[in-house]
Amino acid sequence: MKCVLMNKNTEVLIADYNSVSKFFDKIIEVKNIDYAPYILKSFYEEFDFDNNPFRTNLSEWFKGRGIPSWRDKLDLLLHRLDITTPSELLDKAFGLSLSDQYWLKPYDSNIKYDDINFFDHDFDYSEFLEASLSLNSKTIKKEESLKTPNNTTDGMLKKAWIIEDNIRYLLKGGYKNEILQPFNEVLATMICERLGFNHVPYTIDTYKDTVVSKCPCFINKDTEFITCYQIKNDMKRHDSNEDYEDYIKILEENGIKDARIKLENMYILDFLIMNEDRHLNNFGIIRDVNTLKWLDVAPIFDNGQSLRIEYYDEEELIISGHGRLFYEVKPFEEIIKVVKNIKRIDIKKIEDLPHEFDELLHKYQSITGISDKRIYRLCVLLQRQINKLKRIIENS
Ligand SMILES: Nc1ncnc2c1ncn2[C@@H]1O[C@H](COP(=O)(O)OP(=O)(O)O)[C@@H](O)[C@H]1O
Ligand SMILES: [Mg+2]
Repeated sequence: MKCVLMNKNTEVLIADYNSVSKFFDKIIEVKNIDYAPYILKSFYEEFDFDNNPFRTNLSEWFKGRGIPSWRDKLDLLLHRLDITTPSELLDKAFGLSLSDQYWLKPYDSNIKYDDINFFDHDFDYSEFLEASLSLNSKTIKKEESLKTPNNTTDGMLKKAWIIEDNIRYLLKGGYKNEILQPFNEVLATMICERLGFNHVPYTIDTYKDTVVSKCPCFINKDTEFITCYQIKNDMKRHDSNEDYEDYIKILEENGIKDARIKLENMYILDFLIMNEDRHLNNFGIIRDVNTLKWLDVAPIFDNGQSLRIEYYDEEELIISGHGRLFYEVKPFEEIIKVVKNIKRIDIKKIEDLPHEFDELLHKYQSITGISDKRIYRLCVLLQRQINKLKRIIENS
């Protein structure tokens, strides 16, 4: 199928897209490389129409918009959607997403972004939501239910976009039988609120038989989320401290204000909740898709993999942990050293948090079944991290 890769209203390139293999077989014309997905820019420098890392990476990028093969309970989801691979969903709704503004327009079509985007136009999410997050659900029958931004979500956790009062919210479940993720997201929100860190606000919600986290979309029709991974892709890889400094430099060169402070805030949060999952797709920047101006560091999101979630032991309190600083996994005590002026943090604002977290976990205990002992231990862990940070601040 001859088609145009669009970024909102701007034509990026014309190509032959193979809707069976889901690959771009041929690039016919590049119209506006500046408006291309950020990760493709570095491959364009070597672009020629025959030899083609650019074309391969375009296909990879497009496939990468789909639900990943490592999505929790993917087999069940595929069965319920009555498809065999997530890539079958990619072109069902022009490849549109709620995290950016790219889409594939059939070449002879007059269709406009304004006619189809999911920011303006409602979508039928109920069947996908059930297929994704309910323990029991039927196979989806309506083709309409496959025309949603739920075809293009990343990440391991079961999730679904929904609409309430005209706001797009992302619901996320726990991993396998673990149900702590949504509570960790809310804990992160409480910390960010009190310390004044720019963040995505998560709340707890229940869907049928399960607890989920709920957060509003942080992208609008004029913006896109660009992951650190995309930005780092064309940078030389050093040790993690140098990677970190390089990244801040790029953000500052592109006019993002207080980039360093905002990244520091993310690592302070990770320290406090022992977040193990700050890989390069879990943070990034927001760019204006009309002007291509870099607007800001993206608000802090995806904080669920925290408080030693995978290593709970009824007999033992496991207290040490490792976080991520760019490509390296390191003890939290090491990572926190990137913060230049930790004295700016007013620890008093979070000293009573373990108490509030305890209340939150108990409030939903009848649904989650998290034991009193585990709740107690989670709060001890949190308290320890707050105390540790307090000592770091005092000694700095
Ligand atoms: N509130 C949001 N608004 C827009 N895009 C989001 C939002 N939350 C997540 N995303 C996008 O969805 C992807 C997956 O979400 P994430 O919270 O990281 O899930 P997971 O825990 O499964 O990794 C993110 O990498 C980001 O691209
Ligand atoms: Mg993630």
